Amino acid sequence: MRKVGMIGGGNVGSTAAYQLASREAADVAIYDILPGVPTGKALDMTQVGPVFGFDATITGSDDMSIIEGSEVVIVTAGFPRKPGMDRMDLLAKNVAIAQASGEAIKKHAPDSVVIVVTNPLDVMTWVIQQATGFPAERVVGQAGVLDSARFATFIAMELGCTPKDVKAMVLGGHGDSMVPLPRFSTVGGVPITELLPADRIQAMSDRARTGGAEIVKLLGSGSAYYAPGASAAMMAEAVLNNSNRVMAASTWLSGQYGIEGVYCGVPVKLGAGGVTEIIELDLNADELAALKASADNVAQGIADVQAMAAAS
Ligand code: LAC
Repeated sequence: MRKVGMIGGGNVGSTAAYQLASREAADVAIYDILPGVPTGKALDMTQVGPVFGFDATITGSDDMSIIEGSEVVIVTAGFPRKPGMDRMDLLAKNVAIAQASGEAIKKHAPDSVVIVVTNPLDVMTWVIQQATGFPAERVVGQAGVLDSARFATFIAMELGCTPKDVKAMVLGGHGDSMVPLPRFSTVGGVPITELLPADRIQAMSDRARTGGAEIVKLLGSGSAYYAPGASAAMMAEAVLNNSNRVMAASTWLSGQYGIEGVYCGVPVKLGAGGVTEIIELDLNADELAALKASADNVAQGIADVQAMAAAS
């Protein structure tokens, strides 16, 4: 079977690992800095095989070389938010972890596609791309799938319909300035702008934007992991199967949407080799302004990392 490496065996990493293994999408190797923990989790997951009848090899180690030969590497290592924290508050703490992860990937899985989940997402995706030296299309950030899933969930709840019929689109950086796009969010193919009044759409957009913080506050300790883990697993499957699924993902922009030199969430095709196409939607002036403002926040985060590096 194909192999996916996980850097970080906390809640998000182990959830993604479990989803991939239980769907028999890949063998999974989990690295975590805590000795014993990834090995224990891998053994525990392996023991579900006879219960639900799946067959995938799941291993864990505190030695990074366990990811050797992975076609896809998912990076979740880093500190999560505490209640009241902005994702950008994690920047200084998580930069070194992201850099070390990137260097390990370059050494042990030099041909892999990397899916980044560590926050602040878009900035960490850039840090890891720099550390690996990989072409930008092989390093992509998981945020749009999660943010779109949150928006879709609230749409399904509002309409009392099955989430299976809802396709939502949220672009921009993975932060409070993310950009839900009602015109491009549909239920059974019908844009929600045809189904719901503007004030209800606004309320759902706002809830999607703060959807991560809502869960951080409820949990009290740690952040969301079922949907973030599933979103990363879905992206890994798209790469492994070369399915060219269309989804929002944090991607290096070099002029698309008039944005240059940042990672930011836009619709892409994801397949073998990573981002196979960046899709440019015909956004109206308000949508485009919101996307650019969100990209500016990411650019500020990248500038902060550069200033930290220059000062050290
Ligand atoms: C969230 C974190 C993972 O949005 O960023 O839940």
